[in-house]
Amino acid sequence: MFAMMKELPLSKVYQFIEPGPVVLLTTQVPGTKPNVMTMSWLMMLEFEPPLIACVVAEGNYSFAALQKQHKCVIAVPPANLAKIVTDIGNCTGGDTDKFGSFDLTPLPASQVEAPLIGEAIVNLECRVKDSQMVKAYNLFVLECVKAWETPKLKDAPMLHHHGYGHFSVDGERIHIKSKMR
Ligand SMILES: Cc1cc2nc3c(=O)[nH]c(=O)nc-3n(C[C@H](O)[C@H](O)[C@H](O)COP(=O)(O)O)c2cc1C
Repeated sequence: MFAMMKELPLSKVYQFIEPGPVVLLTTQVPGTKPNVMTMSWLMMLEFEPPLIACVVAEGNYSFAALQKQHKCVIAVPPANLAKIVTDIGNCTGGDTDKFGSFDLTPLPASQVEAPLIGEAIVNLECRVKDSQMVKAYNLFVLECVKAWETPKLKDAPMLHHHGYGHFSVDGERIHIKSKMR
C-alpha cells in the first residue's frame, strides 16, 4: 500500500540525504526488467542542483545498468522496510526479479526510465553527471533532476547502516536556531 506523492522542490533534496540514510537505487535498462539495490555509501556534494556522490560496486548488476543508462532513482525507504531493504541488498538483479519478488510498488518517473518506489519517503530522479572517479573508486556523481516526496511519510524514521545487518533508526528530531540551511 502506498500514499500519494507530490513534487518536492529541488532545493530541499539535501535535507533527505544529509542524514546519510540507507537508500534504494533503481535502474532500468530498456528491454529488461527494472532493478533495485540497497545502498548506504552516499553523500551530498551540492545544494542545487542537488549533487550526490555514491559508490556502486563494479560486480553489481546496478553498476552495469548505471554505466549503460546513466540514469537512476534514489528512493529513501522508511525504517519499517528494514527487512525488505536488507533482502534486496542480499540478492542480485542478475538472477532475481526484485520488483517481482519483494513487496514494493514501481511507479513511472518523469525524467528517467528507472522506476520510483511507491513506499518511499522521497524519490530522487537522477542522471549520472560525472563518471571520472568510477574507474578508481566505483564512485558516481549523480545530479538530481526531479524529486518527489510522500507527505504522509514526512516524519517517518529512516535507516542508518552499521554493517552486517545492524541498523539504527532515527529517533526524536530536535530543532536549534541555525544560519546553516
Ligand atoms: C544495508 C546495505 C547497504 C549496502 N550498501 C551498498 C553500497 O553503498 N554500495 C554497493 O555497491 N553495495 C551496497 N550494498 C550491497 C548491494 O545492495 C548488493 O551487492 C546487491 O546485491 C546489489 O544488487 P544488484 O546486483 O541487483 O545491483 C549494500 C547492502 C546492504 C544490505
